[in-house]
Amino acid sequence: HGTSRVNDKGHLEIGGVDAVELAKEYGTPLYIYDVALIRARARAFKEAFRKQGVAAQVAYASKAFSSIAMVQLAEEEGLSLDVVSGGELYTAIQAGFPPKRIHFHGNNKSREELMMALDHGVGCIVVDNFYELELLEQLGKQYGKTIAILIRVTPGVEAHTHDYILTGQEDSKFGFDLNNGQAEQALVRTLSSSSFSVLGIHCHIGSQIFETTGFVLAAQKIFQKIAHWKEAYGFVPAVVNLGGGFGIRYTEEDDPIPVSEYVDQIVSEVKKQVSKQGIAMPEIWIEPGRSLVGDAGTTIYSIGSRKDVPNVRHYVAVDGGMSDNIRPALYEAKYEAVLANRVLDEKNEIVSIAGKCCESGDMLIWDLPLPKAKPGDYLAVFCTGAYGYSMANNYNRIPRPAVVFVENGEAQLVVKRETYEDLVRLDLPLKTKVNK
Ligand code: LLP
Repeated sequence: HGTSRVNDKGHLEIGGVDAVELAKEYGTPLYIYDVALIRARARAFKEAFRKQGVAAQVAYASKAFSSIAMVQLAEEEGLSLDVVSGGELYTAIQAGFPPKRIHFHGNNKSREELMMALDHGVGCIVVDNFYELELLEQLGKQYGKTIAILIRVTPGVEAHTHDYILTGQEDSKFGFDLNNGQAEQALVRTLSSSSFSVLGIHCHIGSQIFETTGFVLAAQKIFQKIAHWKEAYGFVPAVVNLGGGFGIRYTEEDDPIPVSEYVDQIVSEVKKQVSKQGIAMPEIWIEPGRSLVGDAGTTIYSIGSRKDVPNVRHYVAVDGGMSDNIRPALYEAKYEAVLANRVLDEKNEIVSIAGKCCESGDMLIWDLPLPKAKPGDYLAVFCTGAYGYSMANNYNRIPRPAVVFVENGEAQLVVKRETYEDLVRLDLPLKTKVNK
């Protein structure tokens, strides 16, 4: 997929660059991003909105993968940016991302984080709860500013890949409940306060979703309320943000639909609702993370040890694991992989790929057909671009891998590999009380 292909050495090539050469140059594990594919995904979303002739913002949910170069790429592609913490905001600011196109999310933003957002003049704050409303109201007064906000609502539509749970009152830590009056209470409170300018409504129904139904249902539920809010308070949203969650293909079990289909269904539902109510068409915002960067990322590992359990299983270990990809351990997520240096060799073995962390659950892939792998071979695991590096950790004091961008035959290092010195950089020695 993307610009990936097999070159005449039988090696995996991405963005016109030999992945085996990259592994040799930068070491393993190594995340490689196909920049052209990220651009194509971003353009597909934007093009879908353009075709529908509606004003829109496509915000990259930077939790999927945040780094300075990635934020700069998002900016180059005309995306907006969703940040959920002071750290993601700091990264965006360091990258020179225009603050007006940053949307600040999170269910427990601290006063310091909110002040940071106000100091930098972020475009809007997605308000999640009453505590935050109070904090923001004080800050609005303190700064003498009107703060542009979206109100995050929980519409009572929860989408899990293929099934939709519709509940009167969703059990979720996020947002104001749409169905029990909390959202309305938040709206009334913000409309009557000089600290706020209420841009509109936000919701996010889930992640790795393969159907449009959940988005359409969520839009319907929101607009049912808007009809009432217009009557009661004269409120008409300038923005309706329907969140992210568009699914991608990790393995053949996944069956994603084109992004244009989500956009078309969302836009036509909003158009329908708007004309029914005779109100102006709001800007439609979405915030994809995974679907912008997920399948653009590939992780290259070196093959190391092996354990054969006779008649049961062949364990083949790589030099990373749950430290660079926690998704299999956390969600039983499934991946596909090939030997990057022998892509076309006959797959004459079924093996299970183990990580190197001291935990039995640190398995990356079960039952993977591969050519007989030996030390010195490289394993390429596909679709690790979202929630891979961003959820990487130092369990077992394993340094986090480097990240390389490739495009048009050129590679650039965008995140350096962590070193052992980095690992102890924040450590301080023990003040000993024992006399030796
Ligand atoms: N907007 C909001 C408010 C979100 O909470 C999320 C993801 C997104 C947008 C982006 O969703 P996406 O388009 O990437 O599905 N760590 C998990 C995924 C957690 C998603 C959390 N929220 C994973 O590795 O699957």
